[in-house]
Parts: sequence; C-alpha cells; structure tokens
Amino acid sequence: MSTQNKKTIKSILKLKQDGIPISMLTAYDYTFASIIDAAGIDIILVGDSVSNVFSGNETTIPVTLNEMIYHAKAVMKAVQNALVVVDMPFGSYQISIEKALENAIELFKTTGVQAIKLEGGKEIAPAIKKIVDAGIPVMGHLGLTPQSIHQLGSYEVQAKSAESQQLLLENAVCLEEAGCFSLVLEKVPANISKKIAEKLLIPVLGIGAGNGCDGQVLVMHDMLGLNPNFNPKFVRKYADLHSIILAAIGNYINDITTKEFPNLKESF
Ligand code: KIV
Repeated sequence: MSTQNKKTIKSILKLKQDGIPISMLTAYDYTFASIIDAAGIDIILVGDSVSNVFSGNETTIPVTLNEMIYHAKAVMKAVQNALVVVDMPFGSYQISIEKALENAIELFKTTGVQAIKLEGGKEIAPAIKKIVDAGIPVMGHLGLTPQSIHQLGSYEVQAKSAESQQLLLENAVCLEEAGCFSLVLEKVPANISKKIAEKLLIPVLGIGAGNGCDGQVLVMHDMLGLNPNFNPKFVRKYADLHSIILAAIGNYINDITTKEFPNLKESF
C-alpha cells in the first residue's frame, strides 16, 4: 500500500494551518468506505449515527462498543488514504476516567483506527486528557450532542443565546487544552463556530455550523439522499440514491416476473 497520500493527525492539522478546508464523511461498512476513500475524502468517521441510519434506532444511545468495533473493522479494511476516526458510544466513557481509558484502548487497539471521538465539554475533559496521554488522538464534539438528546429535549440549533455561546467557546478551549486534535461543532449558529474556529489552533469541523469552520462533515446517507423523509436545512443532497435504487430494484423485480432476467448471455 502506498503511504504517500495517507492522511495523518499531523497532515490534518497542516490543512488548517495552510487554510485548506477539510472534508469528512461517515461510513460504517467496507463498500461505502472504499468508495469514499477513493473519492479523496480527508477523514472518515465511523459515527455512532450508525445507530440511526444502519440499525434503525431513534437515537444514537443504544449502539454498543462491540458494534462500533465491528463497523470500524469493516471500514478499516477498505481505507487506504483517509484518516479514520470512530465514535465512542454512549456509556463507554462516562462511568469513570479509568473505564473511559480502558474502552478507548479497546476501541483503538482492536480496530486500528487513528483516532476516537467523544461528545461533551468540560465534564469529560479529564477523561480526554487521560486518553490523549495514553497516546490515542481524540476528536471532540460540541453543540448538538446527540447522545444527550433526552437532556437537550430536541434536535434544535444549540448555543443561540450570548451566555450559551460563551459556554460553548469555553468548552471548545477546554477541549483543545485537554489535547483534542480537532473538534466537531454540530448545529450551532455560524457566527459562533467561526469565532471558535478562529480562536482554536486545532481544526473545527462543522455540521450545520455554517461556512466559517475549518472543514465540514455530513452523514453519508443524508448527502446521498438515501432517506427521502430526512431533509434538515443543513444537509445538501448530492444525489437522490433513494430514487435510483428504488427504480433499479423495481426494474429487477419486473425483469424476473416477465422472465427477462436472466437472458442467455447471463446463463451458463
Ligand atoms: O455520528 C455521527 O455521524 C457524527 C456526525 C454527525 C459528526 O457524530
């Protein structure tokens, strides 16, 4: 395998230093990870959104550490160039700093990913510091943190007031000081994410956080239009795969029922 284009924590940091926007997309399986990697994405996130879009759960809460390991291993088999980051699922880092470190090590060691991601601010900074000190790169995640959905009450835009924006800024600084190499900001006003991206030395990746971030992340299933019923404002649909797949499968069924498939060339 050529290592010439392989993205590293260092090369991702350099993109920010050079003012080059960073691209990130989710993947949970071998086939899609290989396509995304071949397209030249900088970072692949094995997100705990796998719980929603793959497993059909309403929230990200039910996904387990073993399930994240399973998906991360599949993605890692495909990826040659992108930096691969995997989410620590809910419950795997909140119990104690020791437990967080133990689970982070298991995730890191068994999958071979280059970094892990944790949701939360000051309250998890000691756990992040411990994990980073053990040699595991950590990506932070602030703003709308889906693992806390029942505390937040809804998937609405976060940090709308001056006080909550100040708190967000303080949390972002705290995560950088704890050793995070990058930070995801989800569903926050564009003005505050721009301010945070300007203040921090580490890259800030936005999802529904405007154009002032150092890069952007989306859930692959959303930007490929796989679910016609999910149309949030911040998602740009680059394809309508739902319609394409529906039509293709309809044609397949039709060809079977009309005995058009298989034809002689497709038979032995
Ligand atoms: O799990 C996920 O897909 C994420 C992105 C929304 C950033 O955390």
